[in-house]
Amino acid sequence: MADNVRLIGRTDVNDLEAILSITNTDVDAVVHEVKADYDSIFTWDYAKGARPKLNRLYERAKTSMWNGETDLAWETPVDQEAVVLANAANTGGLDQGMDLRGTPFEKWSDKEWIELGVEGQNWTLSQFMHGEQGALICTARIVENVPWIDAKYYAATQVMDEARHVEVFSRYLDTKLSGHYPINAHLRLLLDDIIADSRWDMTYLGMQIMVEGLALAAFGFIHVLTTEPLLKQLLRYVMSDEARHVAFGVLSLQDYYKELSQAELLERQEFAFEAAVRMRDRFLQQEVFERMGLPLKEVLDLVVRSPERVMFQQMLFSKIVPNCKKLGLLDAGDGWLRKRFGELGVIQFEDWADTGEEYEMFQLANGETAALA
Ligand SMILES: [Fe+2]
Ligand SMILES: [Fe+2]
Repeated sequence: MADNVRLIGRTDVNDLEAILSITNTDVDAVVHEVKADYDSIFTWDYAKGARPKLNRLYERAKTSMWNGETDLAWETPVDQEAVVLANAANTGGLDQGMDLRGTPFEKWSDKEWIELGVEGQNWTLSQFMHGEQGALICTARIVENVPWIDAKYYAATQVMDEARHVEVFSRYLDTKLSGHYPINAHLRLLLDDIIADSRWDMTYLGMQIMVEGLALAAFGFIHVLTTEPLLKQLLRYVMSDEARHVAFGVLSLQDYYKELSQAELLERQEFAFEAAVRMRDRFLQQEVFERMGLPLKEVLDLVVRSPERVMFQQMLFSKIVPNCKKLGLLDAGDGWLRKRFGELGVIQFEDWADTGEEYEMFQLANGETAALA
């Protein structure tokens, strides 16, 4: 489809070779610059609470701050190999019970599977950390370019939240895990696109709705599955913030999108689709298999077809699809995005709860230390 080439650079969304051809060439660089040209907006309308739902979110955020240095049980020892084994015992074994005859995994012993699991942890937490920095930068931008005072106030609290998230993921990687990965090329492409767009609502759509919607689902998934108590606690704390962030996106864009023309909405639909594909591609973890010295295409052909992977990838969209529906993006025009989400196999989530109010449910109870449970 011509649209696909323009939006994601390939005709077939599932073209594995095209996906794998996207890599970073500057992995040793310490900084990465993205050019952006946008308006910084002052408002002289200081009426606090003109948007009551955003005001409520802001008030909630002020009483929900936590301290990454002192609130998490950093003294917890983490034995990565033991964690891989314990997690595997909960989820169908190291090889997930798959028939691996005739594949590169055929002769693998526990040793290689454990190594893959350890690398998988290093990769996953590294990508979370990089994504959190993306959120930090995008939300600082929103403080500047959103036109409403209630949204500026709220975004300022989110900037603090994101600093804390980058800090705790970074500390977990440095002190509990055994290696870092550079940012995944698909994730970087997406963050660059979000940041390069000058329209204020695109920052929200890309970050709060798409990236953070996916992060909230991914954190929830891992929070339930992991047997490592410190990571469980860390994710519980981060999720309590993340649910507010996604709500911020939904509550801010909901009315604004009602005013947009069909053509303007189509641009938002296309952007949501591009973001969805980039995020799906990033979860292939191609850098992990590369580091393990495995034949990429052959291995990923197998990985994309494993039932667990298919389920995991779909679950990642369980927040995004209902939120896009709430914003009117699924069915605008001739339902362009509905068709696209159908092709990606994620449309079944459209009637799941949207995240406009869900943040109340994710609140840490008074005095709760996100108990190690
Ligand atoms: Fe975050
Ligand atoms: Fe966030």
